[in-house]
Amino acid sequence: MDTDSRREDPHVDAHAVSRRNFLKGSGLAAALAAGVAAGGATAGFASLVGCAPGADEGASAASALDGELLYTCPLDGRTFATYEGLKEHFAQNHPERVVPEAMSLSINGAQYVVQVEPQWTLREALQYAVGLTGSAKEMCGRGECGSCTVLIDGAPALSCTTLAVECEGRLIETVEGIAADPAWAPLVDAYVKWDTMQCGYCTPGNLTMAKYILTQNPSPSADDIRLALSGNICRCGTYSRHVSAIQEAAGALKGGN
Ligand code: FES
Ligand code: FES
Repeated sequence: MDTDSRREDPHVDAHAVSRRNFLKGSGLAAALAAGVAAGGATAGFASLVGCAPGADEGASAASALDGELLYTCPLDGRTFATYEGLKEHFAQNHPERVVPEAMSLSINGAQYVVQVEPQWTLREALQYAVGLTGSAKEMCGRGECGSCTVLIDGAPALSCTTLAVECEGRLIETVEGIAADPAWAPLVDAYVKWDTMQCGYCTPGNLTMAKYILTQNPSPSADDIRLALSGNICRCGTYSRHVSAIQEAAGALKGGN
């Protein structure tokens, strides 16, 4: 990310994307805007080439991305209005290099057309091509810590070990989508109330797993939760708070609170 361009962007307010504000939902729009700014600043690597909102929750991201309709050569930064133009540019100027992929991703109810490198993981595509920085946390980068967990077709998946090009046509849900969904506000509120984060780095993966746990079992026991979260490592040791938060959210989601 180009830190200078981000610093100069008046839409990027570091205070507006604090972990608590983010989880409370009030920071979500700012987080998306910040993420978009971050994504836009990576035009040398990839650019978001189009976005069509498929649902209300995707509208803010979509409108913020209007005008970013360019395919970008990652080797020399030249931009093209069409994917065919980019391919022709590669054939003429970089015949020995692999042409980036253009693909469509369904994320949090919105449809994104993105340009990715063929070897990019879904985590990299979410961060660099879409600008979603909340769900793109990478701690280990090799499938061991769970911090990069997203839902693909409703099941948890490690975005650091999933290739982006495998995800076309599949439904991807990230922590940004969960935070924007009023139906899951009790879970977000419980995470805030129980102060489940210290540095917050593992929080998106844990919250995403928490949603999955509750969709599978509306009344999970403490042991059920510990077992389901056993793949999500927290270096700050917040483990017991997740159990409390998820059990409280379970009660609220059933109308118990
Ligand atoms: S960053 Fe993906 S599992 Fe650790
Ligand atoms: S809150 Fe720091 S890694 Fe979990």
